Amino acid sequence: MNSQIVDKFGRPHSYLRISLTDRCNLRCFYCMPEEGIELMDKPSIMSLEEIISISSTFQKLGVDTVRLTGGEPLIRKNFDYLVEEMRNLGLAVKLTTNGILLDRHLEHFQKIGIQKINISLDTLDKAKSVFITKRDYYDRIMSNIQQALEMGFQIKLNVVLIKGVNDKEINDFIELTKDQNIGIKFIEFMPFKGNKWDWSKGISHETILKIVSEKYGKVTALDNPKHSTSQNFKVEEHKGSFGIISTITNPFCADCNRIRLTADGKMKNCLFANAETDLLTPHRNREDLEKLILETIQQKKYSRDGMDVKMDASQYENNRTMTSIGG
Ligand code: 5AD
Ligand code: SF4
Repeated sequence: MNSQIVDKFGRPHSYLRISLTDRCNLRCFYCMPEEGIELMDKPSIMSLEEIISISSTFQKLGVDTVRLTGGEPLIRKNFDYLVEEMRNLGLAVKLTTNGILLDRHLEHFQKIGIQKINISLDTLDKAKSVFITKRDYYDRIMSNIQQALEMGFQIKLNVVLIKGVNDKEINDFIELTKDQNIGIKFIEFMPFKGNKWDWSKGISHETILKIVSEKYGKVTALDNPKHSTSQNFKVEEHKGSFGIISTITNPFCADCNRIRLTADGKMKNCLFANAETDLLTPHRNREDLEKLILETIQQKKYSRDGMDVKMDASQYENNRTMTSIGG
């Protein structure tokens, strides 16, 4: 079905990213401001029934895929019930998680047909992992990744590259693709409220490709699936592949089909959009959400919420923190 959620630029939206909670069991420095965040209070967060009901409204308008994010989505109580209901609606369900609690859910995911899991993993060095996340879960995460791979899940590792932190590990991640069918997604460091962003700390698409091809020689560009946010590549002979999400140096907005829903039920047209439309209050008042969703999408800007040329601190510092948007 073609989506009715079409913006001013003629882009149909069929993909909804839902943040289930702003809470997380890690404290990645590029995601959570050091001073912490003011957490949402319980009553302002969507209940599971509200998430299901709002998702089904999006589905009626043409959304066919949801990605569940956080904070950390797996800390949400009764997560398995939620995903099962989403699958019962007929939605494709994808997940972005930090992997800590993954082992508890894998069997259930297999049973209900969740295949694709993205796991945030910025380093393959245990001590560095503790530095980045301020918690010590590295071994558990690595063993959960192995288990998921062995069970046949399609695993992608999200790696946010930051100079002086993990930029020397690019080829270590590529090495993982040699014998395993795993995908690595290198993500250019992006600015959000309070994360002390400065592009001089970022590693660009161009640099990543250069580093990989200096070691491995020929790197083949793959066909990118429609609406892909990454440009995808493969080292010849390697089983797995890698992609680069170049939000900063080469935004991929032309073909955007994504909408976001925050844990407190606000619709966001773009990761960088400051404007939000509250869907939860009208939903609780039994008002019609369809019209509101279709009106909201009309305000979507072409690229990076208007930061077409460069990132602007007066805008992104007024956005939410990443952990409360959901990535
Ligand atoms: N820049 C780029 N990616 C980020 N993520 C979190 N914060 C940032 C940032 N500042 C990523 C996480 C996770 C995904 C949801 O978003 O690593 O994989
Ligand atoms: Fe948690 Fe993911 Fe943010 Fe890290 S990046 S603090 S794992 S939400």
